[in-house]
Amino acid sequence: MSQISGSPFALQDPDDLENNQSGNPHLNDVLAARLHRRHVIKGGIGALAVAGFGPAVLAGCGGGDDEPALVVRQAAKALGFSGMSKSLADSVQVPAGYTATVIYATGDSIDPTVPAYLGNGLETNYARRAGDHHDGLVYFGLNAVGTARDDAGTERALLAINHENITGTAQFLHPTGETNLTVTAARPESEVIKEIEAHGVSVIEIQKAAGKFALNKSSAFNRRITARTEMTISGPVRGSDFVKTKFSPNGLISRGTLNNCGSGLTPWGTYVTAEENWAGYFIRDAGDDTKRTQRENTQLLRNGLRPASAGFAHRRWASVVPADVASTDFERWNCSVKGATPTDDFRNEHNTFGYIVEIDPYDANSRPKKRTAMGRRANEGATCSVPRAGEPLAFYIGCDSRGEYVYKFVTKAAWDVADRQRGMAAGDKYLDEGTIYAAKFNADGTGTWVKVDLSNPAVAAGVPVSTLNPSGYTFTDLADVCVNTRLAAGAAGATRMDRPEWTAVNPFNGEIYITMTENPDRGAISTNSGNNIPNPDVDAANPRYWLDSKGVSSQGPAAATQRGNVHGHLVRIREDADTAAAVGFKWDIFLFGAQAAADAGLDDVYYQKQVNLSGLTALNDLSKPDGCWFSRATGILWIETDDNTFTDQTNCMLLACIPGRQGDGGPIDVSNAASGSPDASVRAAGVDKTVRTYAGRKMTDAIFKRFLVGPTGSEITGVTESPDGKVLFVDIQHPGENTGRAGAIKSTVALSPTALSGPFESNWPGNGGGVPAYGPGGATARPRSATLMITRDDGGLIGI
Ligand code: FEO
Ligand code: CA
Ligand code: CA
Repeated sequence: MSQISGSPFALQDPDDLENNQSGNPHLNDVLAARLHRRHVIKGGIGALAVAGFGPAVLAGCGGGDDEPALVVRQAAKALGFSGMSKSLADSVQVPAGYTATVIYATGDSIDPTVPAYLGNGLETNYARRAGDHHDGLVYFGLNAVGTARDDAGTERALLAINHENITGTAQFLHPTGETNLTVTAARPESEVIKEIEAHGVSVIEIQKAAGKFALNKSSAFNRRITARTEMTISGPVRGSDFVKTKFSPNGLISRGTLNNCGSGLTPWGTYVTAEENWAGYFIRDAGDDTKRTQRENTQLLRNGLRPASAGFAHRRWASVVPADVASTDFERWNCSVKGATPTDDFRNEHNTFGYIVEIDPYDANSRPKKRTAMGRRANEGATCSVPRAGEPLAFYIGCDSRGEYVYKFVTKAAWDVADRQRGMAAGDKYLDEGTIYAAKFNADGTGTWVKVDLSNPAVAAGVPVSTLNPSGYTFTDLADVCVNTRLAAGAAGATRMDRPEWTAVNPFNGEIYITMTENPDRGAISTNSGNNIPNPDVDAANPRYWLDSKGVSSQGPAAATQRGNVHGHLVRIREDADTAAAVGFKWDIFLFGAQAAADAGLDDVYYQKQVNLSGLTALNDLSKPDGCWFSRATGILWIETDDNTFTDQTNCMLLACIPGRQGDGGPIDVSNAASGSPDASVRAAGVDKTVRTYAGRKMTDAIFKRFLVGPTGSEITGVTESPDGKVLFVDIQHPGENTGRAGAIKSTVALSPTALSGPFESNWPGNGGGVPAYGPGGATARPRSATLMITRDDGGLIGI
């Protein structure tokens, strides 16, 4: 998602929401002058290389004293492909010698009894078709006969794929767009069921023939988990008052997973999927706040659920009048107080979303579990630390809104290699008990993981009374902390970051990478963009703001003044003593997103010195890093973008990077020109702001290159690989999402109820842009999200 528009029904970018009223630290107030010392890594690169896990592990090929060896090879020292230029084509562009092929697109049938995708909106039964907005993606190996898990399997496999959203593309699900989206009349039940079922997760079997994978439509593993699939609520919130509803009066189960963004892989071979912007699907009636306690209103506000406000993704699902009068499938999307007690209505339904959900891809009949011990927020994946026998595991999680926090969940149980084959039972052991931490980034390049539970006196003391939280907030128990994790992390003193998105763990040395995708409000103290209260000033870990301009793009007209942290950055963490349970860490900024050159009319000398701090060139400049993931076959860090600020010059992209290590750069002082501040008072005062930060080494074209550029209007999302490193899978999300959007170039297609007849912003992949033409429609096809298979024509490893 990358767009904003004025009307509540014009589908505001969910990732641009911000509801953090904590006023947590502004590090420029406490800048230390101490010189950054290079962090000397005990054991160095490769020290952990035999401590890996999961489907990329080759059982029986030697290894460490407590783990099988990883397939990790010697980490690549250089990239072996020709870097790609930026592109505005409605096409997937990959380097010479590589081939991209679509294997699974929105609407594809996963069942021999369900007809093929038609491309006209007349398809039904999305519970047995690919959902929309492909996102996080993990490869799970199968044995050669396709009957059981084999982590080394390269001929047959399962792909677990998130379907995050339908915003901007829901119109393509229906023959003539959405009916009654912007009026008060009821929405048709069949349309809404289709939209609900287009969310969630796919588990599909793929099988290789002649070196290429294709969907095995007849596989018994094929499964859709949707926003109406029953799940178990597990962990501290299970059975608590927070999740008691008319559907589940005892608070033990819930329906659906929603807005599944990033994902992760557990050491025991299950899939964890992250519920991100769930809040926008709900509506609260005007006046609902008067029927709630102050505590409830504080909880709701902290997650953006204001009365009588329609969220970004609000699709009026609650307006349906179901044919079955006993159905509560639709009324649950209105989380207002309606009945006498909480089990008479769905006032608590929203509390059943916002978790990390565990799914066993190898058992199509297994029930997903909401792992509430890991906390509740706008989750961006859950990436496991490199497992070490006898030590706890950590799962690293971003919370994607402006000014939110970076988290980790540390398991109570210590890792036992014998659990590698135990599936969901191992999940019960590791994910239902543990400790949530949030990151506090200190100005001297160190950091602290602050505990987010009642054993931390700052959390026990609660959220202080303030103008924004007039009654404060006191936590009652662990379930309260696990439901209201954002409030608790704020009380604990975590650092407000520039939209923490995906996390990635370097399998060679355990370092953690976290994308900070952007923050147009960073540096604005006294003003804000509407929901950012208050805006954080620049600090050591979020040190930049600047002025940028954007020309006309397919998303809309030119934007003369983009300000704040326009293009984002990546933070890198090394845990103290390289232990997952560490409470201290060192950090640096691995990568500063930037254009290679300042926009016309702006000072490029200044830009190169103060903005383009990683030394990016035309072959690797990027904006808004979002997805990030490490290949265990090559050690390449893959970085994906979800951009709307550099899209006058290029569509979103996938880049490959040789990562280096924390501390491989050094301290730098960043001077932020007052003219680039989003804060009018700073601009008026004309006083520049200087912040000391800690930069990673500069990039070069040898270690950081653009590998793929996506079709028009798309974002590049999930990425995974076969364990031999010879097939890379990449998700392309929402090509054509700006079709019909007010102000967008191809806006001749109005939103509902106008018939859909084009032109569309994108016609990919039906148009064959950079891939064999996929599905019906050709040059006038409706755009579809899709999973790509990328292979090298000589059969070699991807990227090196
Ligand atoms: Fe789903 Fe924050 O990207
Ligand atoms: Ca620009
Ligand atoms: Ca994302």
